[in-house]
Amino acid sequence: MFGTVPLADPDPTIAELIAARPHLRMHAQDGLLFEGVPLNAIADALATPVWAYGAGTMRARLAALTAALAGLDAHVHYAVKANDHLAVLRVLARGGAGADVVSGGELARALRAGIPGGRVVFSGVGKTAAEIAAALDAGIAQFNVESARELDAISDVAAAMGRTAPVALRVNPDVDAGTHPKITTGRAGDKFGIPYGDAHMLYARAAALPGLRPVGLALHIGSQIVTLAPYRAAFARAAALVRTLRAAGHPVARLDCGGGLGIGYRDPTEAVPAAFAGVLRAAFAGMDLELMIEPGRWLVGPAGVLLATVVRVKDGWVVLDAAMNDLARPAMYDAWHGIVPLAAVRAQAAAVPLDVVGPVCESADTFARARPLPPLADGDRVAILDAGAYGAVMSSTYNARPLAPIALIDGARWAPIRARQPVEALWHGESVPAFLDEGS
Ligand code: LLP
Repeated sequence: MFGTVPLADPDPTIAELIAARPHLRMHAQDGLLFEGVPLNAIADALATPVWAYGAGTMRARLAALTAALAGLDAHVHYAVKANDHLAVLRVLARGGAGADVVSGGELARALRAGIPGGRVVFSGVGKTAAEIAAALDAGIAQFNVESARELDAISDVAAAMGRTAPVALRVNPDVDAGTHPKITTGRAGDKFGIPYGDAHMLYARAAALPGLRPVGLALHIGSQIVTLAPYRAAFARAAALVRTLRAAGHPVARLDCGGGLGIGYRDPTEAVPAAFAGVLRAAFAGMDLELMIEPGRWLVGPAGVLLATVVRVKDGWVVLDAAMNDLARPAMYDAWHGIVPLAAVRAQAAAVPLDVVGPVCESADTFARARPLPPLADGDRVAILDAGAYGAVMSSTYNARPLAPIALIDGARWAPIRARQPVEALWHGESVPAFLDEGS
């Protein structure tokens, strides 16, 4: 229903949303352009809902981050979970990124996309023996180990395979990243990492166990972090731990600083690479540490949109053909995503507060409430912005809605990179046992 827009902190206008995103431009005839491609062309060819990613935008963001790290011995390991499409992985690999994976599936995708095993780090609290073996086979750079039990498990698998596993201990620095409770990870009490106070003892244990070679420490404090203070605090604790371990005679060569760099979904307040790099420099100056970072969202989030068509305007609700099964973030985290009409005439009309929803049978299937938008009519198309990270990877087929297709833009070119899932694929692998049809 209609609502009121808070006066104190009004939502950005459509013009402001576009102006804050260098990859977007409104063209009087062609409508909204992403890099050089009219998004209408993609919607015409592939129908909606459809995702569009910008390779040029991803490449430029990786280049900006890498440039900011110049002079540091620091390497980008892209967090594959944010967007695991093979073409996205290829763009980032060609830009020099390694990968941070959290499952055998992500490892397989990274390798398939051409990222060498030696540029892969394996994070996550529940690595299975099969995943550990696959990672050892691939010769990964390191396992980020989350517990004493996991050290034992990796030792067992590696020793049985006659291999040595490079391991980094993921410590929990007990820092509150001040982000959404569902995506904070670095507080004591979160399920992630080894308690800070146990790290010394476990490092010694890792050095003593067969099949393991401790190479350093890792941490990751959360996601969508747009301030530097939590990083400063976490890195100070990590630096202190490195010094303690080294003083006790342990070689500590590497520190994986995790990801979490936030982007400006609503307000143009994203994490700034140069400022982040400055924090790294200050925290680890003169320590002769090889640094890694694991950004996901920052690299690909702004570089993706979800295109949708208004199916029907119902009593003030704008019902799209995209839904929470496609983009889950608003339903899961109350996330704010910009919504921009593809047509220039629509984008220029005076805004009224609208509720924008999907067709799934849940009230949570809401993209925006009381959002100032031009009046929209059946058949109008919109782009839901900043959907390149944690978008398609979190889609489901809930309500038997097939997975949407994906297009990749690169400057003035574009190509489909995933077909719409055929309806029959929804029941692929299912069977109906014959006994259900026996008897009366
Ligand atoms: N490294 C580790 C160990 C992680 O757990 C994560 C994200 C990353 C790196 C990458 O974080 P990023 O740079 O993308 O913030 N689905 C949620 C986000 C979950 C993040 C999980 N871990 C969302 O849509 O906001």
